[in-house]
Amino acid sequence: MKKRLLSGMRPTGPLHLGHLVGALKNWEKLQDEYECFFMVADWHAHMSEYERPQDLRRYTLDNVIDWLSCGLDPEKSVLFVQSHIQEHAQLYLLFSNITPLGWLERCPTYKEQLREITTRDLHTYGFLGYPVLQAADIVIYKAHAVPVGADQLAHLELTREILRRFEHIYKKKVFPEPQAILTETPKLLGIDNRKMSKSYQNFIALSDSKEEVGKKTGQMVTDPKRIKKTDPGHPKVCNVFSYYKIFKPEMEKEVHHWCTKAEIGCIECKKKLADILNGVLEPIREKRAQFTRHRSTVDDILTQGAEKARGVCVETLKETRKLIGLY
Ligand code: TRP
Ligand code: SF4
Repeated sequence: MKKRLLSGMRPTGPLHLGHLVGALKNWEKLQDEYECFFMVADWHAHMSEYERPQDLRRYTLDNVIDWLSCGLDPEKSVLFVQSHIQEHAQLYLLFSNITPLGWLERCPTYKEQLREITTRDLHTYGFLGYPVLQAADIVIYKAHAVPVGADQLAHLELTREILRRFEHIYKKKVFPEPQAILTETPKLLGIDNRKMSKSYQNFIALSDSKEEVGKKTGQMVTDPKRIKKTDPGHPKVCNVFSYYKIFKPEMEKEVHHWCTKAEIGCIECKKKLADILNGVLEPIREKRAQFTRHRSTVDDILTQGAEKARGVCVETLKETRKLIGLY
């Protein structure tokens, strides 16, 4: 029996190269090792986007199309949309009842987001409960493993704490303790050397055209000390070079040599990188075009995913309701 795994993404924007190397490549591999559930966390997205939710539907579908185009396989994994499974909300409510306010108020991601996100009003009851819903997402599948980035570790720790409290109160162990799968993923910076982010518009999207990739690659920040082509460059400080390391490691030595010996200009170096990135993106683009033409296939995949997911959730809830004293 394979162990069960769940992960999710919030549909707040188009997926980009950072998602590809940071999550999707990894998820694709995990499909063979685990019984996988991958979810578009649209309720979680709504917690921050509730005032401007008009893109949510589009991003939800778009993200799933990207998942499918990057190798997530509905024959192997259950792909679904969080809000299609009402049962998550029910377990979330039950968990809310036992979660002390202080745990949520002290959650580092909560404090940080309230401080840093100024474009939205996050002083809501729902947003405080973000990690409780996440705990329900995981526990309702009795998931053992949760592949996430380091930024989600606090939420996973909270999941385990809620679970421990649950077991302490109801004197029974019914859920496995979920563990993070933290894979070493390369950190990709945006084309302006800042953190890749939707608000900076500094990413290369999986859906970008060949021309857009060429243009954005051309805008990438390089070694600032290299002014003339005859100046030797410093690949170590160059973001273009770090993209080579990730997307074409076989060329690392060669590019290093060209750069430090001033045998190549930055413009040419970036053109070559654009070709490499386009080589990576082309098969994804082709699949994406197919799925976009056959949207009903994607809807069918999500309907079937929801059915499978719901089957598991209904069982967990039956067991849970009884255990906590509901008739
Ligand atoms: N909070 C996660 C993020 O922003 C998304 C998410 C929601 C999730 N529910 C989850 C991740 C359950 C893992 C497991 O990335
Ligand atoms: Fe960066 Fe390439 Fe220019 Fe060197 S030649 S600084 S690696 S873009």
